[in-house]
Amino acid sequence: MHKAAITGTGVFTPSQVITNDELVAAFNAHADLWNAQNADAIATGAVAAKPHSSADFILAASGIEQRYVLDKSGLMDPARMFPRLPQRPDDAPGYMAEIGVDAAQKALAAAGVNAADVDLVICAASNMERAYPAIGVEIQQLLGAGGFAFDMNVACSSATFGIQTAADMIRAGSIRRALVVNPEICSAHLEWRDRDCHFIFGDVATATLLERDEGLDKPHFKVLSTRCATQFSNNIRNNNGYLRRTHDAMDDRRDMQFMQNGRKVFKEVLPLVSQHIADHLADEGVSADSLRRLWLHQANKTMNDYIGRKVLGRVPAPDEQPNILQDYANTSSAGSIIAFAKHSVDLAPGDKGLICSFGAGYSVGSVIVERA
Ligand code: COA
Repeated sequence: MHKAAITGTGVFTPSQVITNDELVAAFNAHADLWNAQNADAIATGAVAAKPHSSADFILAASGIEQRYVLDKSGLMDPARMFPRLPQRPDDAPGYMAEIGVDAAQKALAAAGVNAADVDLVICAASNMERAYPAIGVEIQQLLGAGGFAFDMNVACSSATFGIQTAADMIRAGSIRRALVVNPEICSAHLEWRDRDCHFIFGDVATATLLERDEGLDKPHFKVLSTRCATQFSNNIRNNNGYLRRTHDAMDDRRDMQFMQNGRKVFKEVLPLVSQHIADHLADEGVSADSLRRLWLHQANKTMNDYIGRKVLGRVPAPDEQPNILQDYANTSSAGSIIAFAKHSVDLAPGDKGLICSFGAGYSVGSVIVERA
């Protein structure tokens, strides 16, 4: 058996940003418009009026202050409320491939590795732009990578599940280098017209380069252990899919976008994740005290505070559990990798840390790493 190491990471951040105040102004304008259009039905009590959103609520409930998006104009238009990403010709790079390649090139540059020396590209994300050909294969071709590629989707846990998949192939010896790429265009599956969730997501792409841990003469993180777990739940769900036409249901339905029972998710996922991390650490003989840093999934600040407290048995110092969700919002599978990419270079050789993501499925994935 070989060993695997993380030798580079990359983050693509869109240039357009939306603050909570801007988001709430657009939502409230939409609500006013909708209420005016439905005034008669509201007056008879047939439908309820749409209440306004509030920036204070958003910050208090989530810790999110702003989010980056690929297209701001479409989703800030009160009469539209979703991004405008025009259809591209089939021979032009797709949106996911384009942002994934940017992140992947940054990861390769950080590690000083040529794309041609990569044997595997996994596009691991919550949604795929099309059914086939795989986005991973398109990224492989645009990069000039070798070997093979495929797509996988485990929602918010896609990155850690992708890292385990790549690390397993490196350990088995079937590949030497792998790129796990997470292009997350969450703005396209978020329902911006629903105040319960319109603040949750942002867009980003991340990439993680894994290599066989053999003769590496550059800074890297040893992958000490990986662990994935799933448990079926409908509390985070998106019903969009290829059978839609067969259901005679082509209209714009609410359940084609992100749906969640937020309170239940909060209550059920926290114990699942805390126990998963505790068991993983115990089985590997790694004490929580010896962890220098936790890079957690970035969905909600209160959730992260809770998990950090449970894992460490005390309130973590900000430096022990860095959050990026205030700037990026929830970016699905990419969140823990953004935190890792932006807050890991200062670790000293021998320092250990844990990357953990969790979400729909339910799913939870953890990666124990050590700075070399
Ligand atoms: N502005 C103002 N008020 C709002 C609002 C908004 N944008 N959205 C909801 N509210 C209101 C609700 O209508 C509700 O009012 P009520 O008490 O009169 O019924 C009240 O605020 C509380 O709403 P609730 O949805 O229960 O809020 P919450 O405290 O559970 O926070 C989440 C919402 C989504 C932040 C929280 O449930 C959560 O973190 N869930 C899981 C984590 C997650 O985000 N997962 C994503 C996938 S991994």
